[in-house]
Amino acid sequence: MAGAGLSRGADILSFLSGLLTGGGGTAVGLSIGSSSIKLVELKKAGKSWKLLHFGIVQLPENVIVNREIVNQIAVVESIKTLVGQIRLNSKAVCTALSGTALIIKRMSVEAPNPRELQDQVFWEAEQYLPFDVSEVVMDFHTISKTRDGKTDVILVAVKRGVLDSYMSSVEDAGLSPKVVDSDFFALQNVFEANYPVNPSEAVALIDIGAAASKMVVVHTGVPVFTKDTALGGRNLTSEIQRNLNLTYADAETLKMGGSGPLPQEVSDLMQIAADNFATEIKRSLDFYSASSSGAPVSSILLGGGSARIPNLSRTVEDVTGLPTQIINPFNAISYDPAVFTQDYLNAIAPLAAVPIGLALRLGAR
Ligand SMILES: Nc1ncnc2c1ncn2[C@@H]1O[C@H](COP(=O)(O)OP(=O)(O)OP(=O)(O)O)[C@@H](O)[C@H]1O
Ligand SMILES: [Mg+2]
Repeated sequence: MAGAGLSRGADILSFLSGLLTGGGGTAVGLSIGSSSIKLVELKKAGKSWKLLHFGIVQLPENVIVNREIVNQIAVVESIKTLVGQIRLNSKAVCTALSGTALIIKRMSVEAPNPRELQDQVFWEAEQYLPFDVSEVVMDFHTISKTRDGKTDVILVAVKRGVLDSYMSSVEDAGLSPKVVDSDFFALQNVFEANYPVNPSEAVALIDIGAAASKMVVVHTGVPVFTKDTALGGRNLTSEIQRNLNLTYADAETLKMGGSGPLPQEVSDLMQIAADNFATEIKRSLDFYSASSSGAPVSSILLGGGSARIPNLSRTVEDVTGLPTQIINPFNAISYDPAVFTQDYLNAIAPLAAVPIGLALRLGAR
C-alpha cells in the first residue's frame, strides 16, 4: 500500500512507524473536497474490510478556494454535521489535502546508511521546493534501492499553514487527525485493495472532483507519475450557470439531476465537458509517456463526483484509445445489504473512492 502520509512537526519517523489503529478495528477516512466533505468508516472483516458508514455533506461556495480552507468555521460545522449523522466507532481519522500546497517528487538519493537517509532526503529536497523549507512539513516513502547504491524515495512536502488548517478543522470538529495523506495515494490504496495487480501493466487512476483532476499512474505498487490539473466539475457548473442564467447553486442542482431530466442544453454542455476532460487526460498521459521510461498505461479508472458525467468513460476511451471504467471501491469491500443497496453503492462508488482509500491507509498501519 502507498504510505507517504504527512505528520505534524518533527515527530515524523515515530509517526511513520507508530501503530495507529482505529477503535474496535475500524478505520475512518475523511475527504475534505472543494465542493463536499465525505466520511467513510470501514470495519475489519477477516483479512478484508466491510463498509459501516458513508456520509456526504455539500459545502457552500467559496469555503475552499484553490484547495485551501478559507472558511474554517464552515468546514468545522460541515464535519460536525456529518459526524452527527453517523455514529462513528472511532474518532481517529485519515484526511488528505491536494493542490499547489502539496509537492510530490520522486528522488534518488545516496545515503551510506538508513539512519542518514532522512537527513539526506530532506537536505536534497530543499532544492526542489518552491517554498522556504521553514514553511513546509516533509515526509518520504522508500520505494527501492537501486543498483548504484542509491535509494529511490517519494518525497511529500506540504505547506505548514495549509496542513495546520486541515488538522485544526478536523480537531475542532471533535475528531482526531492521525494521518494527513494525499488524494493520489488514496487512489492508489483503493485501487490496490480492489483490483488485481498486473506487473506488466501501469494503470492511470484519476479523481475528477469539483476544482481539479488528480491523476496517478501506478505500476507494481509504485506511484510513478502524479499530475494535478485545475480542471474540475466547477467549470461545467459555471458554464451551465452562464448559459441558462441560473445561480451557481441552481446550476449545480440541475447538473446533478436534482431537478428531473436534463434539458438538452445541459446535456450538450455535459458532452463538451466530457470532451474537455478526455482531452486533458490524453494530454497528461502523453506527457507521462514522453517524460518517463515507465511501463505504458494500459487502462484508466475514473473516480470523483465528475466521473458521473454521462458518457465520460466512453469519451475518455475514445480519445485515449485505452479501456476506461469508473473505479469500484466496493469490489473487495463487503457491506450489509440490509443497510446499503447495490444501486446506492453504484451511485456513490466514484465519490467514495478517495475517502475509502484514506480509511484503508489508516487501517494498514
Ligand atoms: N451526477 C453528476 N453528474 C455530473 N457531475 C456531477 C454529478 N454528481 C456530482 N457531480 C460533480 O462532481 C463534483 C464533486 O465531486 P467530488 O465530491 O469528487 O469533488 P470534491 O472532492 O468536492 O472536489 P475536489 O476533489 O476537486 O477538491 C461537483 O462538481 C459536482 O457537480
Ligand atoms: Mg475530492
